[in-house]
Amino acid sequence: MPLGSRGPSPLRTTSYSLGVTYKLDDTAHSPLDKAAHPVLHEGRVAVITGAGSGIGRATARELAKLGMKLALVDVDEEGLQQTTKEVSSTVGASNVLAISIDVANLDEVVKLKEKVFEAWDEVAVLMNNAGVATWDGKKGTSWENRDAWKKVFDTNVVGVLNVQHAFVQSMLHQENPSVVINTGSKQGITNPPGNPAYNASKAAVKSITESLAHELRSQPDPHVTAHLFIPGWTYTGLTGTLTAGIGDKPDGAWSAEETILFMIDRVRAGDFYILVPDNETRREVDELRIMWGAADITEGRPALSRWHPSYKAAFDEYMKDGLAQLD
Ligand SMILES: NC(=O)c1ccc[n+]([C@@H]2O[C@H](COP(=O)([O-])OP(=O)(O)OC[C@H]3O[C@@H](n4cnc5c(N)ncnc54)[C@H](O)[C@@H]3O)[C@@H](O)[C@H]2O)c1
Repeated sequence: MPLGSRGPSPLRTTSYSLGVTYKLDDTAHSPLDKAAHPVLHEGRVAVITGAGSGIGRATARELAKLGMKLALVDVDEEGLQQTTKEVSSTVGASNVLAISIDVANLDEVVKLKEKVFEAWDEVAVLMNNAGVATWDGKKGTSWENRDAWKKVFDTNVVGVLNVQHAFVQSMLHQENPSVVINTGSKQGITNPPGNPAYNASKAAVKSITESLAHELRSQPDPHVTAHLFIPGWTYTGLTGTLTAGIGDKPDGAWSAEETILFMIDRVRAGDFYILVPDNETRREVDELRIMWGAADITEGRPALSRWHPSYKAAFDEYMKDGLAQLD
């Protein structure tokens, strides 16, 4: 294909949310408004890593409203205590365990699993959510800051694997259905330049979770399901510090609560890919960007052509045409 040509036409999407923007005050629901779900259910157990802040804390708040027992996990003790205090007032202190560990440490994760099963003998929701965007604020290139790369991979990839290795085998032996929710990122799919370590770690989370989903549904009695949770721009500690100087939630971002309510609804619906919009990027835009990235391979374009100066006009035209077709 000649340099700068348009590439494939955007496909029309048939997804459920075509043309719908998901807002807290219209289509989002509090889980408390919904009929009982066998996993997201009063008295069942949720393990949430990264529960000391942002998306993890918001998940703990919502699941506490459902009356679930919560094992809250974070390396940051102060944040963990704050979440514990908050959700204990909703669900009762005896239904909350706070465990401060580093998910990158397998021994600590195995001890966490033992504590949870000793206390409650089951896990209904395993949410692998602890994550870091950088280490020491260092992003760099693919050939610099190896320590920062390792730290990001230790938490975002090895941490997810440790939790899966410690818990999934026992969840398979349970009678009741349960879910594993791994928090990925759009950056792990479209790979925007600027933070290669984070992008690569989240691409690994996507791959690990897809494999897990296949393995789980291939079990003789498939009652554990996997879900890849792909938040949009969500205002949290992670993005708050990245966008230094912004004190309040920027208009383009969703709150952690909005993101979590969307996620909970889609887990209830049984979705594997939970692609969350925000106030800046609607689902159709994400879909077109994802398809453009995939077509770099099938159309023989250079890597990350979306950010290649010679393809800028073609990409802009593709987006314009694609959105016009959908509207
Ligand atoms: N905020 C966004 O816009 C956004 C977008 C896409 C994906 N995500 C992902 O969502 C997840 C949650 O991020 P957030 O935005 O709530 O960030 P956050 O910084 O507010 O929360 C992350 C939590 O993880 C904890 N943590 C970090 N390393 C840990 C470790 N090794 N062991 C245990 N706990 C650890 C932190 O202490 C923190 O409390 C992350 O996986 C992140 O990559 C966030």
